[in-house]
Amino acid sequence: MCQRPSVPMIAPSILSADFANLAAEAEAVTGSDWLHVDVMDAHFVPNLTLGLPVVESLLNATDIPLDCHLMIEDPGRWAPPYAEAGAYNVTFHAEATDDPLAVARDIRAAGGKAGLAIKPGTDLEPYLEILRDVDTLLVMSVEPGFGGQSFIPEVLSKVRTVRALVDAGDLSVLVEIDGGINADTIEQAAEAGVDCFVAGSAVYSADDPGRAVAALRAQAAAHWPTTVAD
Ligand code: DX5
Ligand code: ZN
Repeated sequence: MCQRPSVPMIAPSILSADFANLAAEAEAVTGSDWLHVDVMDAHFVPNLTLGLPVVESLLNATDIPLDCHLMIEDPGRWAPPYAEAGAYNVTFHAEATDDPLAVARDIRAAGGKAGLAIKPGTDLEPYLEILRDVDTLLVMSVEPGFGGQSFIPEVLSKVRTVRALVDAGDLSVLVEIDGGINADTIEQAAEAGVDCFVAGSAVYSADDPGRAVAALRAQAAAHWPTTVAD
């Protein structure tokens, strides 16, 4: 995608928000870089959340760019409409398609940034070439499906691999991490080279979600690798 952001990006996940008050919950995290929207279909993951109609309503309710994380089967069919609707970044799972290049191409053709997500147990190596054709790599640090789970630190080796390739100029992709990010875990993720941090329960269980976002960003910035600047 573009250059590395100059400061850590924070993407609050509305999975931990009040679904009956999503406009207010988005407003509560004004200043966030992206608003992370977890779309689950009860097939790819054992949970069901929301779909395109709710995303369309959210697009009308907030100016925060939407980061749609599609935990669904058949993303080739379902992902491009999220980009057409105006979602900024549309991420689908590598495990859900045989043709990630085609899905990424169709998301981009529909006007969105394209993201590839990999589950904690999925190897990075088979997807390294494909990373040339996506904008975002979403490294899952919990099994997808539910908020509030514990961070799996072993996935950071994948972050380090991609960070090194990006810093060497061999790849241009934004590295995002999702799952179990909070004040206890964000520093190690920042040190590994994450650009964008998804946080659900750490933000929406706080008394002041907006302050929680700012605190997480400051904490990550204090552990931002020094090699990244320009
Ligand atoms: C899990 C979702 C995450 C979830 C993260 O499948 O993809 O985005 O909201 O929640 P926390 O930050 O509570 O782990
Ligand atoms: Zn997510």
